[in-house]
Formats: sequence, C-alpha cells, structure tokens
Amino acid sequence: MQCPEVREENRGTVYQSSGESSTCQAADDTVEFLTGSGGSIMALEGWAVALIVIGSILTIVALMSFVYYWCVLRYRVADTSVSMAGKTIVITGASSGIGKATALALARRGARLILACRNEQKTAQVISEIKQAVPDGAEILYRHLDLVSLKSVRSFAERIIREESKLDILINNAGIGQKGRTEDGFDLMFGVNHFGPFLLTNLLLDLLRKSAPSRVVNLSSLAHRFSPAFDFTEFDKDDDSSAGGAVRYLRLASYPISKMAVNLFTRELGRRLADDSQVTVCSVHPGIVYTGAIDGALRRGSCRKLLIPLFRFLMRTPEAGAQCVIHCAIDESVRQHSGDYFVDCRPGNEGAMASDEALAKQLWEVSCQATGL
Ligand SMILES: NC(=O)c1ccc[n+]([C@@H]2O[C@H](COP(=O)([O-])OP(=O)(O)OC[C@H]3O[C@@H](n4cnc5c(N)ncnc54)[C@H](OP(=O)(O)O)[C@@H]3O)[C@@H](O)[C@H]2O)c1
Repeated sequence: MQCPEVREENRGTVYQSSGESSTCQAADDTVEFLTGSGGSIMALEGWAVALIVIGSILTIVALMSFVYYWCVLRYRVADTSVSMAGKTIVITGASSGIGKATALALARRGARLILACRNEQKTAQVISEIKQAVPDGAEILYRHLDLVSLKSVRSFAERIIREESKLDILINNAGIGQKGRTEDGFDLMFGVNHFGPFLLTNLLLDLLRKSAPSRVVNLSSLAHRFSPAFDFTEFDKDDDSSAGGAVRYLRLASYPISKMAVNLFTRELGRRLADDSQVTVCSVHPGIVYTGAIDGALRRGSCRKLLIPLFRFLMRTPEAGAQCVIHCAIDESVRQHSGDYFVDCRPGNEGAMASDEALAKQLWEVSCQATGL
C-alpha cells in the first residue's frame, strides 16, 4: 500500500537520527500502527453506518406498525345483534366505498334500502352483489340522485315523498374531493358535500319527523379540523343569471371547509330538532379509508406501484370505515347525542369552529338562500 506523504516524511526523519536497521523497524511499526488505526476507524465507520441503517429501518417499521395499529386495526365494530327489519333507509353514494359497505351491512341486518346514486349501471351491480350476499334480505331500490344538481335533489326528494310512506334513516354519505363547479355554479366540493345534503335533508325532514324515531347521519371528515375561516363575503352574486340574482358561485373551495359545513349543519339541525328530539342527527368521521377516491388519485400518480400497496396497508377497509356510520344509524345510545360528531363509534372532538353557534346559524341562512329553501 502506498503511504501518504506525511508518513514518508516521518520515516525519513527517523532514518537520519537512528541508523538503518532500527529505523526500518521503527518505520514499519509506525506504518503498522497507522494502518491498524485507519482500519479500526474504517471498521468503526462501517459499524456506525450499519447501526444507522438498522436503526432507521426499525424506526420506520415501528412507526408504520403504530400507524397501522392506530388507523387500521384499532376500530370499534357496530352492534351486529340489532335487527333493522321493517326499517327503510336512504343511503346516498352507495355505489362504492363506505356507502356500499354500509348498504351491505344494513342489508344483513334486514333493512329495506334505497340507494340514492348517480350511476344506475354501477348501482345495479352493487344491488346484485348485495342480493347475492344476503339472498333472504329485504327490498333494495335504485333511485337516481345527482348532488351536483339541486334540480336532481328536488326531484329525488319529491319521488321519495310520493312513493314512501316512511323514512327511518337518511345517510348522507356521498362526497367528493375534486375541484370544479356544480350545475348551479357552486364550488363542486361545497355543492356536493354540503348544499346538496342540506337541501335533501330539509326536503325529507317532514317525512323523517312523521317516521320518528328516525335519524340523519352525515358523513364528515377529520379534515374539517383544517378548515379555513368562513368568509361569507366570498359569495359572488350573478345578477344576470337564470337563478334571478341568486347566489351563484361560492369561492369557499376546499374539502376541509365543505366538511366543516357538514359539522356546523349537523349541530344546527340537532339544535332545531331538540324540541321533539325524535329525529336524531349526527356527523361521522369514518377513519382514513382506502376507497375509490383515494385509489383513483393514486392511480393517476407516478409512484402508483409503490404507493397503492402502501396506502392499502396503512388505511382501513370500507367495511371498517362503515362501522361508525352504522353505529350512528342503529345504536340506541346515539339518541342522547343529537348534533354530535362521532369518531370510532363514540362522540369525538370537533374543535372550536364547529361548535360556533352563531357561525352555524349564519351558514344555515346562507345555505337556505343558496339552495332556494
Ligand atoms: N375515504 C376516506 O378516507 C374518508 C375519510 C373521511 C370522510 N370520508 C367521506 O366518506 C364519504 C364516502 O367516501 P368514500 O371514501 O366511500 O368515497 P368513494 O368511494 O369515492 O364514494 C363516494 C360516493 O359518492 C358518490 N358521489 C360522488 N359524487 C356524487 C354526486 N354528485 N351525486 C351522487 N353521488 C355522488 C359516488 O358515486 P359514483 O360511484 O357514481 O362516483 C360514490 O358512490 C364521503 O362523504 C367522504 O368525504 C371518506
């Protein structure tokens, strides 16, 4: 091995002062000492790198196990012994994900289901799957509902009121996380996640009252906690519109604010129904669930081969996500919690903005104006 320059100089100095043989010995010792020390340092460095790599892997595995336990394994299951025979339940957005899993679970409990969806073919497939899984189940109907259109919401509600003598449970499950505009010119997320369900619930409220004890379950999300503040001056007025100067476009464009609106609506409806308390209303965070919306977004991404299995592993199944929705629809204990927000089959913490009564009232007024109630 070639010695570094500084070691050559050392050897030279020793040679001059001590004679040839001893100098060579000393020089060899020096080289051996230096080589041995460098090797030790290199070996030490190797161990340090190995320890850091192993430590990092163990930390990642521990973190993933914690997330897996917290998000995927740790959830409560709704009571399976409750019979829903004789109950009529409307579920919006039951053509996939949590809505589909909720429909199957309620069909197993004997409920008569009305699947309020926008895609007839997809819903027919879901109905046939449920009928196969529950051959002795009650009736399951498809009724067209497209929440991007307030006209569709009105005609759906009119049909339900015309055809149904009672409605025991309304589950406002359908939701969207995409940008765009509704048919009426609202932000797509705010329109589908809040204005549509707000109008639908209000139009069906008399039927729900008539069928009491009855329930409304609204799908919210933990994302509501990241909602920016409401600024109702953000409404644009379009005086030339066919809506005759009604509020046309809302720039409150984000998923969290649309879900905050769901919580505020649930609170306010709970307060308004408190007198007769026979209609119970609650909002639900279903957990982080691997469903069509997330799958679609990942499939469009570049790292899909890595991310799809990882996200699937780290998220709940739709069946697990449906448990809190089912609990709020069927459990007797929920009747004491009208207006509350539920997480994992228990009342959850929804933060200060969601309990702002004045804001909830203001949103109610704005929503009435926007939906023409
Ligand atoms: N997945 C999660 O981690 C998570 C977390 C918190 C809250 N949530 C909420 O849970 C609910 C269900 O979500 P998901 O995860 O099950 O999503 P999903 O699999 O994408 O299902 C959404 C459902 O809503 C329907 N829908 C969308 N736009 C509609 C419209 N304009 N009119 C009528 N129906 C419409 C869809 O119909 P098509 O089949 O025709 O598209 C589908 O049936 C949503 O409200 C969502 O915000 C989900």
